[in-house]
Amino acid sequence: MKALVLAGGTGSRLRPFTHSGTKQLLPIANKPVLFYGLESIAAAGITEVGLVVGDYADDIRRAVGAGGCAFGLDITYISQSRPLGLAHAVSLARDFLGDDDFLVYLGDNYLEDGVRDFVAHATLHPAAARLLVTSVPDPSAFGVAEVETTGRVTRVEEKPACPRSDLALIGVYAFSPALHEAVRAIRPSARGELEITHAIQWLIADGQDVRAETTSSVWRDTGSVDDMLEVNRHVLDGLRGRLDGKVDPDSVVVGRVVLGEGAVVRGSRIIGPVVIGPGSVISNAFIGPYTSIGAACRVHDSSIETSVLLDRAAVECAGRIERSFIGRDAVVSAPRFPYAHRLVLGDHSKVQLHP
Ligand code: DAU
Repeated sequence: MKALVLAGGTGSRLRPFTHSGTKQLLPIANKPVLFYGLESIAAAGITEVGLVVGDYADDIRRAVGAGGCAFGLDITYISQSRPLGLAHAVSLARDFLGDDDFLVYLGDNYLEDGVRDFVAHATLHPAAARLLVTSVPDPSAFGVAEVETTGRVTRVEEKPACPRSDLALIGVYAFSPALHEAVRAIRPSARGELEITHAIQWLIADGQDVRAETTSSVWRDTGSVDDMLEVNRHVLDGLRGRLDGKVDPDSVVVGRVVLGEGAVVRGSRIIGPVVIGPGSVISNAFIGPYTSIGAACRVHDSSIETSVLLDRAAVECAGRIERSFIGRDAVVSAPRFPYAHRLVLGDHSKVQLHP
């Protein structure tokens, strides 16, 4: 079995971060979301991977590596010039996929249990399509499947206004080459995309065997800042502490904390689970649970909890910060003059000011 990982797209709900980078490289516990997917594919024993990339192809190639050997994978990059849909991405990979069965993995999905069991079942019990589904409170934000008790799928719909079941399609699918004919047969949806869900519905209407497997694994489509913060919190819960940086005697480090090489903690209190990237400097600060601080960041005279700072961000004399997601090279500091906020914010930024 081959795998096709989709890492193109626009990531509009993650603006402003996706103005200057791709969502699949945004970090969870200081590791890009995409890496969790690639690692789980390698753990499932798949080696041949097609990686579909869009505008940020160079960034992804630099992060993942040209051939993917850091992951034990043999990666072929497939370029998609515009995000015309998941099924469109599959059609671009037609030559790479050949006549093999294949796994499709959406590069912004985080699935705690990985895909090993799913791939094993798909190999043992081949079907035209095998879907991974999970019960969610608001299915209308996802593809939705209607599934018989036998596991046979009778209908799938993309983001229906009135969902007929609570089973959301997770961004993990196993297909036989029969999908290619379905992709050729469908037309763009109202949002102008060739939907993988429509291709699956075409297989069902054609009488082919489409099966679903339900999982209770922790899963998130990391499409929004709140999703990112929640997955970050979840991954940090399983963190193992390791201090490679320096902690001065005036500081206190409690619980599971990862401190990268060259990082320095001075006169501060760090309460884990927390990860602090290499070269970051934390001084006279409080870093509370469920916080990920990237590489070469500065936090001074501030308190941060349940937040993510991307590389080189600086937070100085900023009071208390919670549930925040702060971008690369961003600077947060106290106003020089009392009662005046000075803001230089990118398009689509969101700031909540204390009155
Ligand atoms: O996350 C699960 C959901 O993913 C499913 O429940 C839906 O049925 C499925 O359509 C998909 O919905 P999204 O609206 O969340 O898909 P999104 O546009 O976020 O794209 C998912 C991934 O695929 C993301 O890594 C970007 C990439 N992508 C997307 C498009 C539209 C591409 O590589 N090329 C594309 O053309």
